[in-house]
Formats: sequence, C-alpha cells, structure tokens
Amino acid sequence: MRSIAVLGAGSWGTALAVHLARTGHQVRLWDVDGANLARMEEERENRKFLAGISLPDGIKVQPQLERALDSVDAGLFVVPSHAIRAAGEAVAATGHTCLWVCATKGLEIGTLKRPTEMLSQVLADPDTVLLVGASHAEEVSRGIPTSVVAAARDEARARQVQAVCSTTRFRVYTNTDVAGCEYGAALKNVIAIAAGMCDGLGYGDNTKGALLTRGLDEITRLGVAMGGRRETFYGLTGMGDLITTAMSRHSRNRLVGERLGRGETLASIIGSMVMVAEGVNTASAARALGQRRGIELPLTEQVHEILVEGKSARDAFETLMSRDLKSEEWKGGAGVVTPEG
Ligand SMILES: NC(=O)c1ccc[n+]([C@@H]2O[C@H](COP(=O)([O-])OP(=O)(O)OC[C@H]3O[C@@H](n4cnc5c(N)ncnc54)[C@H](O)[C@@H]3O)[C@@H](O)[C@H]2O)c1
Repeated sequence: MRSIAVLGAGSWGTALAVHLARTGHQVRLWDVDGANLARMEEERENRKFLAGISLPDGIKVQPQLERALDSVDAGLFVVPSHAIRAAGEAVAATGHTCLWVCATKGLEIGTLKRPTEMLSQVLADPDTVLLVGASHAEEVSRGIPTSVVAAARDEARARQVQAVCSTTRFRVYTNTDVAGCEYGAALKNVIAIAAGMCDGLGYGDNTKGALLTRGLDEITRLGVAMGGRRETFYGLTGMGDLITTAMSRHSRNRLVGERLGRGETLASIIGSMVMVAEGVNTASAARALGQRRGIELPLTEQVHEILVEGKSARDAFETLMSRDLKSEEWKGGAGVVTPEG
C-alpha cells in the first residue's frame, strides 16, 4: 500500500483517486475549489464532476495542500493544462518532494510547452512521469477495463507507476518516449472536436473514418517534428486515445465539436459546460507549433478557424475537401519529418 496525493478533484482526478483507493492505496484528494471539496466530504461523492460514484473510505478529502502532500510516496497532478503551472508552483512552494506524476493532457498557450515540461521546470524534477492513454473518467470509475501508459525517460520510474496503478481492470504499459506520448494525448483532442463536427453536421462513417485517419497523420507529423517517435503515435496515447475520444459519448471535446456542427457558438457552448475541453486551447497551441516548425496541419487549421474566427463547420469541411489533390503514399524513413499534409 502506498500513500498518494491526487492534486485536482475534477472528473479525472476523482476517478483516479477512486481507482487508487479501490486498489488499496491511501489517497489524499486536494483541489483549489474548497467549496466542492467540502461538499464531497459531506456527501462522499463528487456530484459536480463525477456523479453517482461513491468515494471509498481510502480517500481522504484534504483542502490543505501541505497536509495533502505530507509524507506521500507520490503526487499525481490532474488539473487542466491551463492550471498546471500554477498547481506546480503551489506544490513547489511547500518544499515537499516525492515521485511526481502528471495526468494532464494539453499544451500551454503562449509557451506551447507540454505539461511535464512545465512541471519539470517548476518542480526542478527532470523526469516527471506522464500517465495518459485511452481513458474516460466515467468508465474508469465504474471499473470498465482500461489501458493507459506511464511514460518517463527513466524506464524504472515508469515501472514504479505501472506497479502502483495496475489492476486487472486498469492495465498500465510503460514507454520512454515521453514527448511522443504527450503530443499524442494532447493533439487528439483537436481531432476529436473535428470528429464531433462531423456528427453535428449529420455526416457519416465515411467522413469520420477519413477524418480519424488524416487526423492521426497530422498528429504524427507534428509529433515527430517535435521529437516524438513515429511508432508511439500508433499506440495507446496516439491512435488508442484518438479512437476513445473521437467515438465517445463521454468526450467533452467531441461534444463541443458536435454542438458547433449543429450551429451553436463556442461562447454559448463553453458557457454551459462545467468541465474543461482541452482541445479548444490545444488547437491554437498546435497551430502555432505547426507554423513555427513549417508543418502543414489542415484539420487543426480549420478547427482553429471555426473556434477563433467563427467559420462555419460546413464551410471548413468544404475547404478540406477542396484542397489540392495529393498522394497518400508515405515516402519517409523512421525519424523523417513529413511537413506536407
Ligand atoms: N475527464 C477525463 O475522462 C480525462 C481522462 C484523461 C485525462 N484527462 C485530463 O485530465 C485533466 C483534468 O481533466 P478533468 O476532466 O478532471 O477536468 P475537470 O474540468 O473535470 O476538473 C478540473 C479540476 O481542476 C481543478 N483546478 C483548476 N485549477 C486548479 C489548480 N490551480 N490547482 C488545483 N486544482 C485546480 C478544478 O477546481 C476542477 O476540480 C485534463 O488535462 C484532461 O484532459 C481527463
């Protein structure tokens, strides 16, 4: 049994805390939202983010960060990407050290940094373990078989997280390609928004199949240009997470796209959601990375135009289908960057 602090009590933080407590670990669950923590303690349930799931006795809701981190073996960051730097700085200020793990998916607007890069900076820990994959909070909290990846440059660290988190319902693989896993997990949310648009517009399986395939190509081309290994994008944090998110009734990113496809505005959609949809910010960050590296990202570009410039989803699909005709044949070798999409 280990003692673990889960930092962030939204849907995913709560689901992971429930999973770890059921696995036999002692969990302290902390968040900046003290009011919701108080409700959780009273009701032993997180009705705001994960209704219907009782908190096991092994979870102690802890509103004080210092106490949440006191003598823990591991600290698991599960906050949205826009809050990861602030959460990391708050943790660094306590002076506690332990095995740091990051379950956040996204890219920081402005710096375009990955969550583990930000944490490595603020925590002075060069190898924070990434824990991401094909997983929805709603399913993990109900014990539905799920597989994810623990990634660290030092494989021994990834194996530690694998050993602590794995059960017969939650299978953890390891990987040393942290950048590849992290770009895959972040960029798939942009493609999931496009997949949702396809649903909202009433398009069919042909469109969705093409979109996921060309989307994976786009994720891979940018991810390889950013230092990821090509084969990583065909694993759980790339293709696996893309399928899970883009086909899902649980995914907020897919739902944002579906509502945009039906003609709602982004402002009204975001205004009606309590949970974060990471793909919205990631679309702008990914587009900026693509421009910086000279990588063509046709789908990301259209998602960005819809989200930021108010282009209609129907016009965006017209633009995509009217692009210059291309060959799909891949002409590269293993580490070769292919800019053209
Ligand atoms: N929901 C899922 O199924 C799922 C699965 C895998 C990964 N993720 C990733 O996990 C991350 C968190 O997602 P979520 O679904 O739990 O989000 P959510 O919107 O459900 O909850 C976010 C939580 O973070 C808290 N928070 C915000 N700023 C904070 C700060 N500075 N310090 C501490 N807590 C803070 C909020 O109060 C809230 O409780 C995202 O990057 C998401 O992509 C989510």
